[in-house]
Amino acid sequence: MNRYYAKFTAFGSYTPPKVLNNYDLEKIVDTTDEWIRTRTGMFERHIAADNEAASDLAYAAAKRAMESSPVKYREIDLILVATVTGDYAFPSTACILQKRLGMKDIPAFDLSAGCTGFIYAVDVARQFIENGTYKNILVVGVEVLTKITNWKDRNTCVLFGDGAGAAIVSRARSADISHIIDTKIWSDGSQGEYLYQPAGGSRMPASRKTVEENLHTVYMEGNKIFKLAVRSMTSAIDEILKQNKLKPDDVDWFIPHQANLRIIEAIIDRLHVPKDRVIINIEKYGNMSSATIPVAVDEAIRAKKIRRGDVILMVAFGAGLTWGSVLARY
Ligand code: ACO
Repeated sequence: MNRYYAKFTAFGSYTPPKVLNNYDLEKIVDTTDEWIRTRTGMFERHIAADNEAASDLAYAAAKRAMESSPVKYREIDLILVATVTGDYAFPSTACILQKRLGMKDIPAFDLSAGCTGFIYAVDVARQFIENGTYKNILVVGVEVLTKITNWKDRNTCVLFGDGAGAAIVSRARSADISHIIDTKIWSDGSQGEYLYQPAGGSRMPASRKTVEENLHTVYMEGNKIFKLAVRSMTSAIDEILKQNKLKPDDVDWFIPHQANLRIIEAIIDRLHVPKDRVIINIEKYGNMSSATIPVAVDEAIRAKKIRRGDVILMVAFGAGLTWGSVLARY
């Protein structure tokens, strides 16, 4: 038995103002608007400025979430940041964000689960709330993938955008209709080499050679990842629904990770989910990794699509390999 339930109190998001569209990319690499649209569903993506880092985007998103929430700054007990493009290897981006927000004397840490980062972070936050350790947790998914993009590689450089999404996860009161129903996370490290950043860590520290060979940028075997993403996200939805004795029809809104429109379509096709119950914003943002889901949820709340009491299901897949799902009554 849970001692308490967790709920989403508020969301906030931020994407940098600079926009790069498919026609701009045509001038950078050998690609076309038509190829990018038909193969990915993307048209434009937001790009962080040279002087903007993960914590800057995270700060803007966190502030918006706090402004939309009755929770006061001093009531936040923990900061969790999901990212693979933090400001530094250390200290954590969560600690940098803590300083910016002026939230003293609380723990803060980063979590690395690629594009599934936000789902992992919500899962961790839920445990702390349910076991009574904390009452209010700031959870951020932030990514500046364009800083680790090889702008000469058309296979990857057309895919990514920058952004941040934040959620306040709080202890639900007994009268609350809102609560997190369940969370599920999985990983399979044996297939991690299909999607990674080869250089810059302790395996291959930065050197003149690694810089010359662009080894600090995203390496991805897109085709393999595509198939695994469809299979894993379909089963992540299937399992969380089955374990909670629900059917796809019981869900008001599906919020899948936005890596490729064809991946999303393949999943909803397999599960017979009508497209008008799926939040899709990939055309405007591209793949923002751990930020895609909280940004999409925040937009849908502000557009009054997602309303209090709606059943929402978030699902993601990413580097690790990792995947997972969150089922909640918003
Ligand atoms: N413009 C034009 N042609 C291109 C481009 C481009 N931007 N990119 C690739 N091509 C070409 C390839 O060179 C290839 O040409 P060839 O047949 O002459 O060799 C052809 O298009 C087909 O290439 P594929 O890789 O087979 O294309 P595919 O249909 O698989 O689409 C894509 C590629 C979009 C990358 C897709 O595989 C995908 O979305 N994969 C999953 C991505 C994902 O989910 N990532 C997970 C999270 S990312 C993260 O965690 C950071």
